Order: sequence, then C-alpha cells, then structure tokens
Amino acid sequence: MSDDSATVDSATVDSANVSNVANVANVANVVADVARIADSTNTANVVNTANTAGSTNFVYSANTDDSAAAVPSANVGTLAGFTIPRLGMGTMALAIEGRPASRDQAIETIHAALDAGVRYLDTAWSYYLPSRPGTGEPEDMGYGEYLVRDALATWHGPSEAKDEVLVATKTGWLRTLDGQGRYGWQADARPETMIANAKESARRLGVDALDLLYSHCNDPQVPYEDQMGALKQLVDEGVAKAVGISRIGNEDIETAHRILGPSLVAVQNQFSPVHRDPEHTMETCERFGLAFVCWSPLGGFLDPFNEHLFDRFREVAERHDCSYQRVTLAWELARYGRLFTIPSARNPREIRDSFQATELTLTKDELAYLDGNA
Ligand SMILES: NC(=O)c1ccc[n+]([C@@H]2O[C@H](COP(=O)([O-])OP(=O)(O)OC[C@H]3O[C@@H](n4cnc5c(N)ncnc54)[C@H](OP(=O)(O)O)[C@@H]3O)[C@@H](O)[C@H]2O)c1
Repeated sequence: MSDDSATVDSATVDSANVSNVANVANVANVVADVARIADSTNTANVVNTANTAGSTNFVYSANTDDSAAAVPSANVGTLAGFTIPRLGMGTMALAIEGRPASRDQAIETIHAALDAGVRYLDTAWSYYLPSRPGTGEPEDMGYGEYLVRDALATWHGPSEAKDEVLVATKTGWLRTLDGQGRYGWQADARPETMIANAKESARRLGVDALDLLYSHCNDPQVPYEDQMGALKQLVDEGVAKAVGISRIGNEDIETAHRILGPSLVAVQNQFSPVHRDPEHTMETCERFGLAFVCWSPLGGFLDPFNEHLFDRFREVAERHDCSYQRVTLAWELARYGRLFTIPSARNPREIRDSFQATELTLTKDELAYLDGNA
C-alpha cells in the first residue's frame, strides 16, 4: 500500500501499452527497485521476462531469502499501477464467520502471504460480524480492514516492500445477523452510503487514498448509474486512486466503463471450477482491457458445492504431486493475462501452498482436460 502518487495509474495496462507519465514513472521505479534488490541481496530471484499479453517486461523478486521463489513473468501483471504477482490473498475468511479465534493467527497468515510474495490483499468494508441481531455495533465494524492495516504495520518485510502491496477494499454492502443467529449480507449502495463508507475504509486502513476501491455489488434498489457516479466522485475527490466493480454482468461493465473511463481498472466476479463465468464477463474485461479478479477461486467456504467438480483437478494434482487447490489456481492464471486470483486462507500453510501456483506450469493438454474439453 503506497501513498506515493507516482504509483497512481488510471488504467490496467501492460508495459507495451504504457502511455502516460505516471505509468512510465511507476514501471521505471519498480524496475529500479528490483535492480537494487537484485544487486544487494539475491540475484537468483531475478528473471528475464518475455512480453506476454497482459504481463509486463517487469522482473519481480520476492523479498525474503526463504521464500525466494521467482514468479515467472506470465504470472506477474499490472493492476491499479502496481506490478505484482497475479496471485493475491482474499482476507474474508480471516474476518467473517469461521474466522480464526485468535487474531494473532490471522495476522500470522497475512504475514505468511507477504513473506511468500503476495502483493495484493483484498478486504472490504463489510468484512466483520454483527455481535447482535442487526447490521452491527460500532465495536464490530472494520474487523477485516483493521486486520490488514495491523498486519502490514507489523510485517517485518523490507520497508520498501510495504509500498509494493496493493490493498483493495469494497463499498456498498453490509453484514446482517437475524434473530436465529444466521449471518447474511445486505446491499446498501446508495451514493451517500458508498461515499461515507469508502472514506471510513481509508481512515481504517490508515491511508490518504485507497489503492483500489470496488463497488461490492449492484444494489437493485439504486440505479447502477448512480452507484457508478458515487465511485466517480470518490476518484474525483482523491479518496480512491483506481476503482473496480464486483458481482456484476456484461451490461453493468459497459455502464461502468462509460461513466468511469480509465479510472475503472478491474472486475471482481466469481470464477472457479464451481462457477465458470457463464455470462463470459471475462471476455468483456478483455475487450475493455480490464483486469478480471476471481472471487471464491477455490469454490468458497460459505456455501456447499459439488466436490466432484474438482475431480479432474485432483487427478492432475496427483501427477504434479501437489494440492488440487494449487492446480486450480494455476488453471485460473492460465486463462487470461490480466486475471488475478485471490484465494482465502485461514492459516499460513494454505497461503504458502496456494502461492506456489504461480510457479506451476500446466501443459496445453492438461488445461484442455481441466476445461472439460479433453
Ligand atoms: N466480491 C465478492 O462479492 C466476493 C465474494 C466472495 C469472496 N470474495 C473474495 O474472494 C476471496 C476468496 O474467496 P473465498 O474466501 O470465498 O474462498 P476460496 O478462496 O475459494 O477458498 C475457500 C477455502 O479453501 C481452503 N483453502 C484455501 N487454500 C487452500 C490450500 N492451498 N489447500 C487447501 N485448502 C485451501 C480454505 O478453507 P479452510 O480454511 O476451511 O481449509 C479457504 O477458506 C475472499 O477472501 C474475498 O476477498 C469476494
């Protein structure tokens, strides 16, 4: 998470498309940073890259000696001005129902992600649990965002590496608890709520401007144009450097693109073997040059799903002697050069395992088999 305005980048671009001074400055800074790290510490981390679609000529280096795996260039991408591995971490499972009882374990899990090389942390205004029936008491609010803030503040990685971390949050959704003890979600994307909550998110995360702010959903009670108008106002006021949209269809992407122009950099939609983007929103992202960020990339943990949908992933995993979760994430990364995947984890082991998907190359035949086309 960086406060440096030189990293502000209004579009999702690869280096071949770099067209504005901020982008050039950012890529140059990043390359200089990497050269410095390589000089001073770990030359083995430096990889020469080919310029593949959606990735960059950039060279990424992990920051600790024990996690020194280099991320192949095809699995590095640019999002909201950050050139980072395309495998980040979702922090929802650390903040809502089922979250670790120990806050220290949650912080340790985020530290393990950063040590492994994760540079994208995904949170939301709504990642909290109401302690009593209703939408939450003041002491409930902000659990997830404070967790991310505190994990970054206490991480012992190199200080410059903290500026490489893209923190994304979301606005326009709340949690609920009913009288039977069941948790739920409730859209509230009235422009005034979206704006007030986004400003609160910035305060909670301890930044002047959010790196990336998503609208969490399309609230059916509010015209989508008005919801996008709220995002635009937040960009114009400098509260968010870049914006994204979530849980939406193709028509919404077109509306958002029309209203937000180059400030719109990402779509966060469900994608996994359980939900294969039936509306083909990934293709619309490609058409507009937007990043596609997969939510619940391993099928999620809140709702049950058919485990057999992972059978082929288990078979391929056996051949690679790794977890089927790692194969699933590698299959996702191979789909689109501007795809980012953000698995949750509730302990360090899971995120270390998942991050290794950035180094797993699947053959064309394996990808076709996993697509169900074999
Ligand atoms: N925009 C939206 O509306 C929206 C909606 C949902 C999620 N999201 C985002 O997407 C992120 C990920 O989605 P998700 O939390 O629904 O679930 P997910 O990433 O699909 O993961 C589901 C579960 O898989 C298990 N797991 C993860 N890595 C593993 C590994 N390497 N080996 C074995 N098991 C592993 C964990 O469960 P156990 O701890 O039980 O092992 C994890 O909670 C969220 O954190 C959030 O940031 C966004």
